[in-house]
Amino acid sequence: MSMIEVSGLGMRFGGVVALESVSFAIGTNQHCCVIGPNGAGKSTFFKCLTGQLRPSDGDVRFKGRSIRGLHPHEIARMGIGIKTQVPNVFDGLTATENIQIALRRVCSGAKLSSRLDEILETMHVAEIRNKLVGKLAHGHRQLVELGMVVAQDPDLILLDEPAAGMTKPESTRLAVLIKELAKKHAVIVVEHDMHFVRLIGGRVTVFNRGEVLMDDHVDLVLSDQRVKNVYLGKQAT
Ligand SMILES: Nc1ncnc2c1ncn2[C@@H]1O[C@H](COP(=O)(O)OP(=O)(O)O)[C@@H](O)[C@H]1O
Ligand SMILES: [Mg+2]
Repeated sequence: MSMIEVSGLGMRFGGVVALESVSFAIGTNQHCCVIGPNGAGKSTFFKCLTGQLRPSDGDVRFKGRSIRGLHPHEIARMGIGIKTQVPNVFDGLTATENIQIALRRVCSGAKLSSRLDEILETMHVAEIRNKLVGKLAHGHRQLVELGMVVAQDPDLILLDEPAAGMTKPESTRLAVLIKELAKKHAVIVVEHDMHFVRLIGGRVTVFNRGEVLMDDHVDLVLSDQRVKNVYLGKQAT
């Protein structure tokens, strides 16, 4: 059974068609990158999966159940976690405190302490656990935010441009981390950086003008002429 199954998804904003007839599925412990030019509908796609937007057409089934009409907090509780494109951390709190906030929604006491240590380790932020998040380097802040998502142990993790603004060594480490996470969770990553997409490897879904242009292995996708035309052609690489 698929972890998530999207069929005939459509989203219109007035006259703007942001998504049209999108079908997509991902299984347990699988990962996939979603690429596409600016305005292709990638973030809208994620927002339809988390309930932040109500699709105009189609259906989304998560673990076999339709999420149509459910509120974002209900969908989050079912097991979908998202790191949005807009940062969502508390700059005035430490890395530890930020992750504790997320953990408190799902556990308490000794379980919370042990999960906290585990997440700080996994995210490579244990050394900076007591620093204010607002004072951290961008890459570390992104890792704390990812830790907040992972804290709730979602079955499906959505990451919207997690490597944005990262240096190459930071994004290289993040790619390794995401592949590690994909052993325990289903993960969908929206990303612009082709270096990063290649490092993650595996399956890539290409969005263009609200539709799925191609869905295949990274090597086939990145060498495809149609993909180059709509996307890679616009990049300096
Ligand atoms: N809330 C909104 N209201 C109106 N138009 C929107 C809204 N959100 C997204 N759009 C439009 O939908 C299209 C897809 O946007 P988006 O999903 O953010 O693209 P991407 O994440 O691939 O860059 C764009 O044309 C964008 O302008
Ligand atoms: Mg976007």
